[in-house]
Amino acid sequence: MSSPASRPSRPVPRASVLAIEAYVPGKSHGGSGAKVHKLSANENPLGPSPKAVAAFQSATALELYPDGSSIKLREAIAATYGLDPARIVCGTGSDELLMLTAAAFAGPGDEVLFSQHGFLVYRIATLAAGATPVVAPEKDYRSDVDALLAAVTDKTRVVFLANPNNPTGTYLPFDEVKRLQQGLPPHVLLALDAAYAEYVRRNDYEAGIELVATSPNVVMLRTFSKIHGLAALRVGWLYGPAEVVDAINRIRGAFNVSAPGLAAAVAAIEDTGHVERAIAHNEEWLPWLTQELTALGLTVTPSVTNFLLVHFPDAPGRTAKEADAFLAQRGLILRRVDSYGLPGALRVTIGTEEANRLLVAALKAFMAGEAGDGA
Ligand SMILES: Cc1ncc(COP(=O)(O)O)c(C=O)c1O
Repeated sequence: MSSPASRPSRPVPRASVLAIEAYVPGKSHGGSGAKVHKLSANENPLGPSPKAVAAFQSATALELYPDGSSIKLREAIAATYGLDPARIVCGTGSDELLMLTAAAFAGPGDEVLFSQHGFLVYRIATLAAGATPVVAPEKDYRSDVDALLAAVTDKTRVVFLANPNNPTGTYLPFDEVKRLQQGLPPHVLLALDAAYAEYVRRNDYEAGIELVATSPNVVMLRTFSKIHGLAALRVGWLYGPAEVVDAINRIRGAFNVSAPGLAAAVAAIEDTGHVERAIAHNEEWLPWLTQELTALGLTVTPSVTNFLLVHFPDAPGRTAKEADAFLAQRGLILRRVDSYGLPGALRVTIGTEEANRLLVAALKAFMAGEAGDGA
């Protein structure tokens, strides 16, 4: 044991933990008294299903621990997608399941691979596990299977792939996902993060779940935070091989999903009408917003999901940073994506009709050079 004089005078976190830049969530507040439209966190502008709200409100036995095995929710998910409930594990949002996936399969000396503009939590989960993040370049803001495969080494243990990806909104077709899986050594776990799956209207998309069902090294992560509108309750799920589910069950919190969260999530997944309404809303406003913003001279990365990556000119008075401040003055809260290596862009969630129209009008004024209200 080291001598007392050489020991630190207080507890010191592991170096890999101190290398983490804490996740900064999308802002919720505007700069003025204007009504605030939060378009910074890809939440559902229609809110949750009223049935989910009612189920949440009826979960009043707060003195009781929840069902630690989330059995009713796993059965409801399994019935919806035709899955085996024994191969599902629920989590405190899919964030927790990303952290647990990294912790269960990677540690010091191991590498975890993801793409250049991949979701920030992958880096956090990797470093928290003591493993080393490895980043593969993207092409046109899209994950590049060849680059990912080229970055695989003997040390790679997990590959995180968001499909669609946040913050780019882009998507890899199923044959590309399959090519990635087939190119990975069998001991490398491919974690498909499908947080925005419900928004994708491509006839090859559902095949991803089939790949998980039939592959020993693929898991899929899903969430109730996005289309189901339950972000406040923190509920996610992972579907995967029995051995992966078993490993995650060993290290997760025993009661990691709250009783109101479980009740609301069951009602939400069963309310397919509400999900369809949210999809229809998105299908109406995603192309509209893409077209309107493009017409203003902005470059919009084509998106298959409920948000857009909007690129601003690198010219004084027109930058993403200035646009963000200008919009905030008008109560429109977007997401800066500097931390994703995209300082010239903002991410915007498809909002209510009111928010979408206000956004276009405000950006029209911004691009025309109108001064912000003191911004
Ligand atoms: C790609 C992706 N994965 C996972 C999550 C985490 O979702 P949650 O923890 O709310 O389930 C998000 C949230 O923004 C996301 O964008």
